Amino acid sequence: MEIKSTVYTGSFGNLESCPTDGKPEFAFIGRSNVGKSSLINMLCGRKELARVSQKPGKTQSINYYTINDVWHLVDLPGYGYARTSKTNRSAFSGMLRNYLVESTKLVTAFVLIDSNIPPQKLDLEFVTFLGENAVPFSIVFTKADRIKPNELAKNTAAFKRELMKIFDEMPNTFISSAEHRTGREDILQFVADVK
Ligand code: GTP
Ligand code: MG
Repeated sequence: MEIKSTVYTGSFGNLESCPTDGKPEFAFIGRSNVGKSSLINMLCGRKELARVSQKPGKTQSINYYTINDVWHLVDLPGYGYARTSKTNRSAFSGMLRNYLVESTKLVTAFVLIDSNIPPQKLDLEFVTFLGENAVPFSIVFTKADRIKPNELAKNTAAFKRELMKIFDEMPNTFISSAEHRTGREDILQFVADVK
């Protein structure tokens, strides 16, 4: 898919105030600092569409971008930022839960997983929550340029093994690097195919 236009549509504090124009939505979600903003900028071919932060935990609202006037890219708040309160940290409550579980236009949530580290409990809890609520999702392993190929293979295989303990069917997985623009074609092709 060629991205011809990217328009920032707005930031919203809850599902009720989000756009209702009926366009299919693809959401991006992950632990704070996983590389979400960098991936969104890379996909859209824009340097500063989503803000890449030095300080983790910046995205606190549901941010909408309209792509090619056809679909919405939805940037969701990160989960698991240690410095927010326990209640805020929960991936399973509030605005995030509400959006993921109740949105009728969500086609897929791309769950970003840091490829540089072994499987994390919080990420596995999060995908379990998605599974329990029948939220369709795909996995994007991020920051692939920062790790040796054999370590990358080891971490992604370990995460997939954990997924197979939870799910009968393996979700779609992608490997990405915002630095090297890896994964862009595959992710955008997937969006084009399923939207
Ligand atoms: P919050 O919105 O704060 O939760 O973070 P985020 O998930 O949006 O992450 P962000 O894109 O701001 O990136 C966090 C840090 O990781 C930044 O210093 C980025 O430069 C770095 N980073 C992100 N993606 C990549 C990547 O693919 N490769 C490398 N080498 N660094 C990356
Ligand atoms: Mg961000």
